[in-house]
Amino acid sequence: MRLLFYNISSFLPIFRPQSKSVLFMIDYNNPELLVTPHKVRSGKIEWRSPSNIALIKYWGKYGQQLPCNPSISFTLDAAYTETTLEYGPKMSDKPGVAVDFLFHNQHNKPFADKIEKFLTSLLPVFPFLSQIELTIFSSNSFPHSAGIASSAASMSALALCLCTMEDELFGTLSDDVQFEQKASYISRLGSGSACRSIYSKAALWGATPESQASSDLYAIGWGHHLHPVFSTFHDDILIISKEEKNVSSTAGHKLMEGNPYSETRYMTVQARLKQMIYALKNGDVELFGDILEKEAYSLHGLMMLSDPPYLLLRPGTVSVIEKVAEFRKTKKIPLYFTLDAGPNVHLLYPDEYQDAVQAFIKSELLRYCAEGSYIPDKVGTGPKQL
Ligand code: DP6
Repeated sequence: MRLLFYNISSFLPIFRPQSKSVLFMIDYNNPELLVTPHKVRSGKIEWRSPSNIALIKYWGKYGQQLPCNPSISFTLDAAYTETTLEYGPKMSDKPGVAVDFLFHNQHNKPFADKIEKFLTSLLPVFPFLSQIELTIFSSNSFPHSAGIASSAASMSALALCLCTMEDELFGTLSDDVQFEQKASYISRLGSGSACRSIYSKAALWGATPESQASSDLYAIGWGHHLHPVFSTFHDDILIISKEEKNVSSTAGHKLMEGNPYSETRYMTVQARLKQMIYALKNGDVELFGDILEKEAYSLHGLMMLSDPPYLLLRPGTVSVIEKVAEFRKTKKIPLYFTLDAGPNVHLLYPDEYQDAVQAFIKSELLRYCAEGSYIPDKVGTGPKQL
């Protein structure tokens, strides 16, 4: 049975912002996490953390990076960040956070400033960050200029390093569930979508009646609910443009605040999430694809309905979308697309069609890609400590 129609009013009481009591049950601020400076040993921690692709999109936020609606994602595999964090006793008398940051082994001032600001904002959670010296090396598996949102991978990799450091210094996060939850919470503070990258295969973020364990504060692992067809799904990312977007995701979230269609969005997205969850659990690839594409259109529709309106789709994006629809119809192959807040197209399909889809991409779609570039990716098993 398809669950296509819902009484939307049944979702109204919870659509935003959800149960504040739940929100305040967790307080990670901990003034006791302080080291004895001369006893700090040096350490080195390394994590690889992947990007993720939202199937139901997080679009609009409130408070401290809290989502206006729940989202669900596949964790990716090939698109990842590797972050190495070296720490040791603080030699300088610089107050606050002392951090050196290198991206692909190069000093990068804008990134370093952003990281220092983020770590400073985390001092109530990790007060020991002002007592030690840090050097952070970060690199992506994909070119920075590929136009792929790297914040999910990079912020989750950093959050995992910070939580591992807490555990090395204080032994406070030996429980895997608590470790993941805190890593997801910290990732969220860095970039909302990053909180979903912590988990194998799939993650759900944002309070929803679909899951009692769900929270706006952190994502929860959802991979164990996936029907087998989805745990080997592909996501090939077509790079339509490598240019920097003229409206960032953060600015886009902000524009939802004055968008006259945002409340309608927050009401209807709960029903869509319910349908998506049904499809993911039951292996209903057709329903999955239907909802997936509607979400992509909705996201970009909301951008066009913002004030001021803006358009991130490029002519190549539209051509690829049309070609995909035609391919699906004529070949009877369940190939679907989704979009992030940018022009690049994610192509999602079951593993059994890998050869047919790859041939189609090469013969028909690469001509729309910037320098013919695309990243063949798939559902992955989540972050790995190296
Ligand atoms: C369209 O997580 O990049 O990709 O929280 O401001 O860092 P910030 O935004 P970000 O927004 C992602 C938006 C999206 C949808 C999604 O990933 O859910």
